[in-house]
Amino acid sequence: MATKPVVIVTRRWPALVEEKLRDAFDATFNHDDVPMTKEALMKAMGEADALLPTVTDSIDKDVIGVPHRRVRIIGNFGVGFNNIDIEAAKSAKIVVTNTPEVLTDCTADIAMILLLAVARRIGEGERHLRTGAWTGWRPTHMMGKRVSGKTLGLIGYGRIAQAVARRAHLGFGMPILYYDPYVRKDTLAADVHATSCDKLDDVLRQADYVSLHCPSTAETRHLINASSFAKMKPTAFLINTARGDIVDEAALVQALREQIIFGAGLDVYEREPKVHSDLMKMENVVLLPHLGSASTETRQAMGMRVLANVDAFFKGQEPADRVA
Ligand code: DGY
Repeated sequence: MATKPVVIVTRRWPALVEEKLRDAFDATFNHDDVPMTKEALMKAMGEADALLPTVTDSIDKDVIGVPHRRVRIIGNFGVGFNNIDIEAAKSAKIVVTNTPEVLTDCTADIAMILLLAVARRIGEGERHLRTGAWTGWRPTHMMGKRVSGKTLGLIGYGRIAQAVARRAHLGFGMPILYYDPYVRKDTLAADVHATSCDKLDDVLRQADYVSLHCPSTAETRHLINASSFAKMKPTAFLINTARGDIVDEAALVQALREQIIFGAGLDVYEREPKVHSDLMKMENVVLLPHLGSASTETRQAMGMRVLANVDAFFKGQEPADRVA
């Protein structure tokens, strides 16, 4: 019997997927789920045929360039792959894959949850009740901002943004604006009437809610900064389910503190898992621990997507989700 490819999985994955990986490959798992050190990742690159990391593992040029490297494919568990030095992988001729599509709906749900929660003061209201501070209904108690009919501005208009647009437009009657210089117009959702803006500032100036959906690249680092907040309405909210480094977090804190914008709903942070200590104290923000894709169904589907990519690669086929 032919020997199975050796794969190393860097974190715990849903049990069902680990079982399938065990059947298909000679797989090593991380049962304790403790993040692997850089040294451990480098060692794994020399021992396995495939490395299966996730979005919190930094697969940088040192890890990729390890002497006596054996890994030929990196199957990333996540749609985002800014944790991997793609140029280094390309020059080392390592194939890299990601997990698109399967997390689109769940991530769009979290963007809407954040938008609704921060606008209608859901976190704050729950804390208020649970601490016993609620004295009863009254006409001016905890008034938030309306969502239905307000304008949603999307920065980046890929799959997840379009799923947010669909929910917001068809469910909440929100007019949609978007800025995305790269989107292919022939791939756009036909059931949502969204207006494309030529400039990022056009979205920032007009939107009541600005939601970020662009990838994290050198170009998008701190795309949203002090000057962006100055252009937004003082009643506007920022929602981020993409990547933390797209926003200058110190500038966001200042904009919230000085009421340059009204509030923010965040699932991602510049230095995860660290969250700016001032954000933790603010009532006009809703903070989640990077939950975008965190449903059982989606996390299983992401794992199965990695498995299918790696399996195809070792069968000599082109993996469906190849990004390098
Ligand atoms: C991703 O896949 O890139 C998310 O951030 C985690 O699901």
